[in-house]
Amino acid sequence: MDLKKANEFLSVNDNGHLTFEELDTVELAKKYGTPLYLMSENSIKSNIKNYLDAIEESFGKRGHVAYACKAFCCKEMARLADNQGLWLDVVSSGELYTALSADFPAERIIFHGNNKSNDELKLAVDNSVGRIVVDNEYELERLINIAETTGKVQKIQIRLKPGVDPDTHQYVRTGGINSKFGISLSDGTIDRIVRTANQCKAVKLVGIHCHIGSQILDYSVYFDAVDVMVKIISDINQNHNLSLEELNLGGGLGIYYKNDETPNIRDFVNDIHSSLVKSEQKYGIKIPAIYFEPGRSIVGNAGITLYKVGAIKKEEGLTSYLSVDGGMADNPRYALYKSKYSIILANKADKTEMEKFTVAGKCCESGDLLQEDVLIADAVPGDILAVLSTGAYNYSMSSNYNRIPRPPVVMINKDTSRIIVKRESLEDIIRNDI
Ligand code: LLP
Repeated sequence: MDLKKANEFLSVNDNGHLTFEELDTVELAKKYGTPLYLMSENSIKSNIKNYLDAIEESFGKRGHVAYACKAFCCKEMARLADNQGLWLDVVSSGELYTALSADFPAERIIFHGNNKSNDELKLAVDNSVGRIVVDNEYELERLINIAETTGKVQKIQIRLKPGVDPDTHQYVRTGGINSKFGISLSDGTIDRIVRTANQCKAVKLVGIHCHIGSQILDYSVYFDAVDVMVKIISDINQNHNLSLEELNLGGGLGIYYKNDETPNIRDFVNDIHSSLVKSEQKYGIKIPAIYFEPGRSIVGNAGITLYKVGAIKKEEGLTSYLSVDGGMADNPRYALYKSKYSIILANKADKTEMEKFTVAGKCCESGDLLQEDVLIADAVPGDILAVLSTGAYNYSMSSNYNRIPRPPVVMINKDTSRIIVKRESLEDIIRNDI
């Protein structure tokens, strides 16, 4: 397995153990227990730097990066994003509250969601979040009422469906005209929304937003979205005499999981810039501020999960199951999307002789698998199994199914490690029970 493709900080030491940054993962499993999420601080910082450098290079001061914290959200991650100067994309009161509790500056928060509640809108307005991305007319009406009662002027972007469908799993395609997110361009809704916002002092329409999908490996599809969005800004300019200042292109750049041809962040940003400039020239406008909202490409490759191998079943003519002490409760992505992952035994990372296994979780459900028919070194109970590239949408999508406590998240940085999210206890499991 080419570990470096998954993460440059993964390696194998003289004991044949998998190392991450400079730490022996088998020792970490002993120290913190399993299952265990590990996040590499230097990987996260390096991904952020790649975005910021590329943006500075091509977009200059008009480029902004908002980290989409749905990919991995906790207070320490919000602090890290803040320290690196990022904006933050949040999509629920829970994510917003996490950010505010970590003292993330509200003016750099962008609040999303296709069905925000009044309480969520009020929390956002009361805390003066930088932008609310309005998804539909019903939301705009309620937002105006809420903003009017506070006497504040809330800046908004409108979420649009540019009618672009990337080649990715159907559950994470969001730019097509049939998506549940945003408004389509076909029936005049956009003109009504622009008029309503324009007539009202409590909101200020500053831009438009699209997010076409996630885990996108062929990013040429963004060029179409960029062109559609620039044209809309030009149309709004002409039809409503309003020059919008902001174009938010969402997130979605894909990462390496297993045998993927993975785009690099710098090429992506530079190529988007070229396509934007082309469209701006075509429609004769220049947009003052461009936003990106990457989630997965900031944290995805920065995480790995360690499990302890338990029961192993090898029955003649049947599937060989290797069960681990976690599963769909800490990583539902295989059950949901059949997502591919690279898997390796952390304590036998130098072994080359492989057997075919289906890696099963411990939940009471046949679909609780982490991967089917993958090659793994000859395993025995007690071995430590590592699943790579689990930094995005694993902890954030974890559940307590079967009342299994969530694993902790440990942040590693060179030869140091620290807990940033504690392991849930059995007491936590019954905390809200009456
Ligand atoms: N902006 C908006 C408005 C979004 O909806 C999303 C992701 C992002 C940015 C960040 O996208 P990213 O760069 O992470 O692809 N649970 C799925 C992914 C769902 C993505 C939802 N929206 C998965 O595990 O693959």
